[in-house]
Order: sequence, then C-alpha cells, then structure tokens
Amino acid sequence: MELNHKELRDQICDVCHKMWQKGWVAANDGNVSVKLSDGTFLVTPTGISKSFITPEKLVQIDKSGKILSAEEGYRPSSEIKMHLRCYQEREDVGAVLHAHPPVATGYAVANRPLDEYSMIETVIALGSVPVTPYGTPSTEEVPEAIAPYLEEHDALLLQNHGALTMGTDVITAYYRMETLELFAQISLNAHLLGGAQEISRENIDRLISMREGYGVTGRHPGYKKYQ
Ligand code: 13P
Repeated sequence: MELNHKELRDQICDVCHKMWQKGWVAANDGNVSVKLSDGTFLVTPTGISKSFITPEKLVQIDKSGKILSAEEGYRPSSEIKMHLRCYQEREDVGAVLHAHPPVATGYAVANRPLDEYSMIETVIALGSVPVTPYGTPSTEEVPEAIAPYLEEHDALLLQNHGALTMGTDVITAYYRMETLELFAQISLNAHLLGGAQEISRENIDRLISMREGYGVTGRHPGYKKYQ
C-alpha cells in the first residue's frame, strides 16, 4: 500500500525518534531521506536533533538538491549529496538512513569491516559490510567514496564516521540499520569470547539462496550467482 505524503512524513519522524531513543545519534547527528513517487525527495533538515523532528520540519528537494518546499529557516541535511548518490546509483532505493550507532561506528572508526559470515540472520539479510574510504562530511568526497560499493551493498560503514543503510522504503532502511548494529554487537561479543565461528561455504550459499523465499529485497555481495 502506497503511503500519502502525510503518512510518509509521520513515518520518517517515527524513524528519527527511534534512532535517537536507541542512542544511534547524539545532538544533531544523523539524517533520513525518502524518495517520493514523483521523483522528488523528503529529507531531514540540517542541524536538528532527531528527537525533535516533526513532520512540517522535513524539507522537500529535487534530484539536484534544490529546495522545493521548506518551513522558513530549514535547509536540507548537509549530507544530502551522499543520499542523492544512493538514489542515482540505485533505481531500487526508496529511502536512505545515516546514523552513528555506537558499536557499528566502533568498527568504522577502527577501520574494521563486518565481513565475517558467522550469524545466519546477517548472512541472509546483509552479507559482508565494508568500510568505505574516508571522506569529509558534506563534500563530494563522501558520495565518491561510497559509489563503488553501492552495486552490491545495502549497508556500509563510513570510515571514521558512522553507518549508512538503504532500502525500498524507510522502514526497510531502518531495519537494516538495526540488523547492522545488532550484528556489530554480536560480533564484538564473539571476539571477547575468543572469536566467531564462521559458517561453512556450503551453508553460507544455502542461506544466501534463501533470500528470495524470505522476500528480502535489495543487494547482497554474494547473491549475483542466484539471480
Ligand atoms: P545534518 O544535521 O546536516 O543532517 O548532519 C548530521 C550528520 O550526522 C553529519 O554527518
């Protein structure tokens, strides 16, 4: 069922509030965008805590980032170039989320990819999550750094910065951020316990081939051979 603009604005705000409640963002961190059916976008404004976002504060922009409608004093997220690059590279992407979930961001800061195939849910849902090269926030460096990874990944770690997820809609992108952060926690716990036990190649292939049956959308680095 397609949501109307009011419902979409409410859904974006709900996700922003959840991101703050979960401790994935401090102060004004994080941003969310959604693609509308007419090819324009709703995006969180720059410089506002995600805990205080309300539907009318969201900014509508076109694909070049030009403001189409906004309350006085509100401008799109400073990271909008990063979001727009995801939509540009991926026709299937309908929403993008950026946050600093503390465990996944720990991996990004340590420059450690989450590339162990050790937990079945994550093998199916995300596959490996790479660390994309360093980029100065708000500049073209960030979209340039992430672009090569977008063909195969719906979740990325941004070096020394945070995490980025995308999906067909904002709830799917949000769930990917949840899955990423939970896997980062589990991976860290496993390392404290002496290291994760990797799943066999045969079982990894079986798990990845189950994506279709589970109705998982998006991309996966090990999925190509099943398409
Ligand atoms: P904005 O407030 O401009 O969206 O930036 C927040 C952020 O997380 C920068 O990385």
